[in-house]
Amino acid sequence: MSFDLVLFGGTGDLAWRKLLPALLQAHRHGSLPAGARIIGVARDALDDAQYRAWIGQRLAEVEHDKRPCDAEFASFAQLLHYQRMDLSQPQDYQALKARLAEHSAEVVVLYLATAPQLFTTACEQLGAAGLVTPQTRVVLEKPLGHDLASNRAINAAVRRVFSEQQIFRIDHYLGKPAVQNLLALRFGNTLFEPLWRRETIASMEITIAEQLGVQRRGEFYDSTGALRDMVQNHALQLLCAIAMEPPINAHADAIRDEKLKVLRSLTPWSAASLAQDVVRGQYGSGTLAGERVPGYLQEPGVSPGSQTETFVALRTGISNWRWAGVPFYLRTGKRLAAHEAHIAIHLRPTPHAIYRTPLSSANRLVIHLQPRDGLALHLFAAASETSGARALAQAPMLAPVQLDLDFEHRFGSQRVGAYERLLLDVIAGRLNLFVRADEQEAAWRWVEPIMQSWEEQNARGEGPRPYAAGTWGPGAASALVARDGNTWIEEC
Ligand code: BG6
Repeated sequence: MSFDLVLFGGTGDLAWRKLLPALLQAHRHGSLPAGARIIGVARDALDDAQYRAWIGQRLAEVEHDKRPCDAEFASFAQLLHYQRMDLSQPQDYQALKARLAEHSAEVVVLYLATAPQLFTTACEQLGAAGLVTPQTRVVLEKPLGHDLASNRAINAAVRRVFSEQQIFRIDHYLGKPAVQNLLALRFGNTLFEPLWRRETIASMEITIAEQLGVQRRGEFYDSTGALRDMVQNHALQLLCAIAMEPPINAHADAIRDEKLKVLRSLTPWSAASLAQDVVRGQYGSGTLAGERVPGYLQEPGVSPGSQTETFVALRTGISNWRWAGVPFYLRTGKRLAAHEAHIAIHLRPTPHAIYRTPLSSANRLVIHLQPRDGLALHLFAAASETSGARALAQAPMLAPVQLDLDFEHRFGSQRVGAYERLLLDVIAGRLNLFVRADEQEAAWRWVEPIMQSWEEQNARGEGPRPYAAGTWGPGAASALVARDGNTWIEEC
């Protein structure tokens, strides 16, 4: 299928760090048809050749395995084009229209990798310029809004121009292979389904820990914070994937209907739960991987005395028959002790102990999302007995054992990364892994009371709790799970 992919924000960080490496990878995998065009759009005065050269330099800075060799880049560069545009200028959209008319591709993807403040104007102008046809798809990067009202306003503006079937709201966590595998584990196998409920599961834990700080995004991050940046979208989408009911089929709306039900069943916040079950933190300086790193307030672009959170841990629940009473713990933060994302499913302990155990006798299934993706099932086996009267006199001993599945090892180079998967899905018109407007609204509705309570705390001079870079966040996050007799998995 021939396509044009127009990358608004074509010289931005997202474009060269994530999108173009993903497109390059798709090119390596032979997934991009000959004749496809990737048209970078930005305000800089560049021509095609200069854009190609600039992207070539940037790609030399990405992670080693994503860097192209000269021959690879030369062939990929043929797909790259550039269109200078000021998104506030109607005549610039006409120039883009002329550019697209040269090719008459079967599919035109308009990828808005720009500041979200530009989404509304860009969509209105695209519509007014006659650039939206049934062949057009629009991709919207997060964050879509700052709160429920702004999210609704953007969605309303986009829907005046595009139908819901043409709108691809990206949450790149849904494209991660581990999330595909989680859905396959749950809905492609019978083993776990009977266990996937309150009778067997004691608690669920989602951790997305980053070692990186805010890097060059201090200004953006300072007005966003971890709740809006990670919890409202990525963490809640992961929670939907573990908690949703089996969809009636694999079509986009069947899946999205089930996710929406989860979001609507999240326990509403009360003054008491906001005070007890939510912890926010902000990193100070510390040592990470042997290096001293500055605190958040010293990062460029961060306002002095900022009360923006770089860490959130919270406890919630899902009010339905499957999950009533099961705590769901979510935790994410920057400058933490490890780069590590996982979902840990803690099973209930045996109801009656006939063995001795060195630790708690509860099984655990851990779904590792990154840096490697895989599954680890933590079980117990009979430990080899030591001889002697003591061994004979006591109950037999159990030892922890682990069944490991490493997807990277199993599927190797055939694997498709998150952005590559999602971009190919947009081109193919598959909406399964994209977020519907009502899901986003439900997620914003649920996080808003947290945002409000923090504003009130800020006004009283109570900011986020400090934590040293290179740790697992404020101690209050451990206390949050300890109240239920639980621990985060690195503490197990
Ligand atoms: C982005 C956030 O959506 O996800 C970033 O804006 C964050 O702040 C990133 O670093 C994490 O993504 P990944 O795939 O590296 O875990």
